[in-house]
Amino acid sequence: MNDLIIQNIKQLILPKSTKRPLKGAELDELNIIKNGTVVVKDGKIVYAGEYTEHYEALEKIDATGKVVSPALVDAHTHLVHGGSREHEMTLKRQGLSYLEILERGGGILSTVTATREATEEALFKKAERDLLIMMHHGVLAVESKSGYGLDKENEFKQLRVSRRLQDKYGIEMRHTFLGPHAVPKEAVSNEMFLQEMIDLLPEVKGLADFADIFCETGVFSIEESRRYMQAAKAQGFRVKIHADEIDPLGGLGLAIDEEAISADHLVAASDKDKTKLKHSDTVAVLLPGTTFYLGKDDYADARGMLEHDGAIAIATDFNPGSCVTNNLQMVMAIAALKLKLSPNEVWNAVTVNAAKAIDVDAGTINEGDKANIVIWNAPNHEYIPYHYGINHVDTVLQEGRIIVKHDLTLQ
Ligand code: NIG
Ligand code: FE
Repeated sequence: MNDLIIQNIKQLILPKSTKRPLKGAELDELNIIKNGTVVVKDGKIVYAGEYTEHYEALEKIDATGKVVSPALVDAHTHLVHGGSREHEMTLKRQGLSYLEILERGGGILSTVTATREATEEALFKKAERDLLIMMHHGVLAVESKSGYGLDKENEFKQLRVSRRLQDKYGIEMRHTFLGPHAVPKEAVSNEMFLQEMIDLLPEVKGLADFADIFCETGVFSIEESRRYMQAAKAQGFRVKIHADEIDPLGGLGLAIDEEAISADHLVAASDKDKTKLKHSDTVAVLLPGTTFYLGKDDYADARGMLEHDGAIAIATDFNPGSCVTNNLQMVMAIAALKLKLSPNEVWNAVTVNAAKAIDVDAGTINEGDKANIVIWNAPNHEYIPYHYGINHVDTVLQEGRIIVKHDLTLQ
């Protein structure tokens, strides 16, 4: 006997299962079934498709008027960090830019101080709350970066917290070492600090899946980033890069040359580098919530990347400075409005393609997949990026088990 059947689904969203990320025009293809049915047994999908009376199950959920999709994937987050930076809002109002705040020892460096001061337990509690918020918003696969320790003890503390969260909640997670995220105050030189981070890589191997670096003016150059990425690859890491976020340094081209699994941000990526996407499976992870939060007018050129047959994904970049939201639905709305993505493109970018950007088996609900499913309180898939800033989740099922159920009843 099956365990669960979800019936009368107004729209069942079934992104394609593919080996490679969806690229270019493929992003606009999404299988949407009217009057769908999903059947679950032992935590896995037995059937997902059109209405059928073929299956019996112990439990039934009626999804009349609702959308059902795979659980979302947040492919870029700085989930584990100490403190908060609300005081920077005043500095921004006074006209200081993100990099100016960093130059004055604020920004990332102030979160480094707070993260170093926090005990592992305090960091765990804070990140746990933020992870639960993500899960309540329909996310069951998360990438989580270090990068606020900038020394062995504190980078490893962040990575341990990240792994403990995965153990506790059994969700899909990938852990990324971002030791070269900024140059700490005590560093003698960029060069020496970068070497210190490179020397940590063999030990990081047991704790992290990916190695990442912040390639930006005043942080790490293209040459330094190349050196780090090559050293990480030699240790068996897949690499990622924070690239062309503010200045056009050429990080996208470097990522493609180094066969990075993803290149993230890319607001200032050059046209020349964008054309290289055609022959590459490096996923361009776009973070429009960050552009919005930094108060910029120019967003990443998602349309141009798709025209060049690129693979794109959308993520929150949740962090305490440049994008303070862990609501991926909100970022889906910003992607639709500012990156001019179609609803189909948005959904593929937060499911299958996001999964490819972090190498997790997630983002689809086809036969044999884990039953990680969201039932949405929305009449169609376009409605979720449309009615923005709120949580549309009705129910989240993790491996077929209801873990979140929302209703609007008052106490
Ligand atoms: O992805 N750009 C670098 N790192 C983060 C921001 C981190 C912070 O401001 O604390 C980002 O935007
Ligand atoms: Fe980031």
